[in-house]
Amino acid sequence: MIVAGNWKMFEGPDPTALARRLESIDGVDAIVCPPYVSLARCVDAGLTTYAQNVHWEDEGAFTGEISPCMLLERDVAGSLVGHSERRQYFGETDEDVARRAKSALAAGLNVIACVGETQEQRNAGDTETVLRLQVDAVRVACGPHDRLVLAYEPVWAIGTGLTATPELAEAAHALIKSLLDVPVLYGGSVKPDNAAELMAQPSVDGALVGGASLDVESFAAICQAAAASRS
Ligand code: PGA
Repeated sequence: MIVAGNWKMFEGPDPTALARRLESIDGVDAIVCPPYVSLARCVDAGLTTYAQNVHWEDEGAFTGEISPCMLLERDVAGSLVGHSERRQYFGETDEDVARRAKSALAAGLNVIACVGETQEQRNAGDTETVLRLQVDAVRVACGPHDRLVLAYEPVWAIGTGLTATPELAEAAHALIKSLLDVPVLYGGSVKPDNAAELMAQPSVDGALVGGASLDVESFAAICQAAAASRS
């Protein structure tokens, strides 16, 4: 099981305190995705650390971007790509996301590529079509890969307190796995009190946690629930 904490544009918990707390939990690969300025502190604390995004070129005139080799040289283990906030607020397309994922994998990083439908797309009955398009873009660029993980994050469940039911999550994960056979994390308002039932689903291989990853104890509780679900 994998539990990744996406700190977004928040300072996040103290990396040393978090690392110490996570040491006591076995059976889960815990990952933190802090803002770029905190990557080094997280690496130094011994946390498995991913960036929140990564560019496809090694270097160049791309203001505001960071390259795969820059991350690798600083012992950053991987990156998120395609988070819905990147797609929604910064206009990233399926093609951009696929390019980011492909270059990051080729450079030697681990990748968590995020997919998920909006409320309007779900209401219109387009969930399957949207997931197929998003997953296919990554599949065509990267194929199945042992350093690639997908995250199913229904956009309507992110930061809203609304969570997909375990049945709905399971159905989406099963569809995604039928398209690209890699581990699939669930994301969208995962909290200590709903983590166990989500992690119990056979096609849910872990969680991508936003708000609840900003607190050491709630992130640790989710990691514990993930570890317990497969023991
Ligand atoms: P949330 O965010 O847990 O705060 O809903 C999840 C995410 O965006 O990765």
